[in-house]
Amino acid sequence: MEQVSLRDVRSYPRLELALEPGLVLVTGRNGAGKTNLLEAIHVAAQGLSFRTRQDTQLVRRGTEEGLARVAGRRGGAVVEAEVRLSTREPKRIRWNGAALGSVDDLRSRIHALAFTPDRLAVVKGGPATRRAYFDRVLARALPSRADLSGAYAAALGQRNAALRRIAAGVSDRAALDPWTDQVAALAAQLVDARARVLSLLTPAFAERAGELGLEQAALAYDAEPPSRTALDARLPRDLERGTTGLGPHLDEIRILAGDRELRTYGSQGEQRLAVLSLLLAEAELLGSQVGVPPLLLLDDALSELDADRRRILSERLGTAGQTLVTATGAEALPLAPAQLLAVTPGKVRRG
Ligand SMILES: Nc1ncnc2c1ncn2[C@@H]1O[C@H](COP(=O)(O)OP(=O)(O)O)[C@@H](O)[C@H]1O
Ligand SMILES: [Mg+2]
Repeated sequence: MEQVSLRDVRSYPRLELALEPGLVLVTGRNGAGKTNLLEAIHVAAQGLSFRTRQDTQLVRRGTEEGLARVAGRRGGAVVEAEVRLSTREPKRIRWNGAALGSVDDLRSRIHALAFTPDRLAVVKGGPATRRAYFDRVLARALPSRADLSGAYAAALGQRNAALRRIAAGVSDRAALDPWTDQVAALAAQLVDARARVLSLLTPAFAERAGELGLEQAALAYDAEPPSRTALDARLPRDLERGTTGLGPHLDEIRILAGDRELRTYGSQGEQRLAVLSLLLAEAELLGSQVGVPPLLLLDDALSELDADRRRILSERLGTAGQTLVTATGAEALPLAPAQLLAVTPGKVRRG
């Protein structure tokens, strides 16, 4: 992206910023507006924030409408993405001047991947967090399967509702069959797509992690989709609980270093390296698929890493297409960035 324009987004009343390709370091004191800048760029490029689902929070306090726009060249084409925010109505998204109906539509045209310290939950959190994360990766990396996890969740919801109706005596067992069929069919597709995306991601993940000193990093997913027979065999228990106790909504995707599961046996630093390596791996995968690497937005990624790790990561980021990294001071980055930005409340100065 070459140009960022903001009006009344978070702490920015008005901002016009020219961005360099390559590694851009965003510096500023705590509370200066570094995260706000990355977030605003993410909003413009992806239609939503990486830290809140509440669009009204994005509009600058005391105002009612905001605008975030990014423009530039991607793979030879000139593109512009624009999101108009309002405290009173839903946001409006435009791509190259034409209105888009949904965030997903924008996200199918341009990719931005974000790291925030909250993302450590992907490694540290429970299985549901990892499933949701990898299902989002799946949606980006296998666009034709983007709706799969949603479709599975919807079918599962219908089956669970049918289970409860049968248990309450207001419906009979035959009513369950079509939902069981759908759940089984979609479960098989989802398990297959997850396995595929994980196998696409794993080599680059292991390589990036190894480079950062996290040896033998791997993703393990040994799920079996439930057969109709298995679902039928569980029916008495499912009826009792009113929920389907078998299927990919319960699967575990493990993030490992050798035989160590990083969720429980990884240090905070190792967990951070794993999350960053996953992000870099996905960036490579998307870049090779689309022909243009995604825009990377890394908030507070460098803290908690030792000097060697910071250097290796910075060098890697320098080759990863356009990347914005925040830090409180320029010394956090052990190499010279393509561009240095200094943030003070409401303003960004080019260094
Ligand atoms: N909607 C908003 N309107 C005005 N200011 C906001 C809004 N949301 C957050 N801020 C301000 O932005 C500042 C935090 O900016 P942030 O980007 O998180 O800082 P940092 O540089 O530490 O990442 C806070 O002072 C907060 O009050
Ligand atoms: Mg911040």
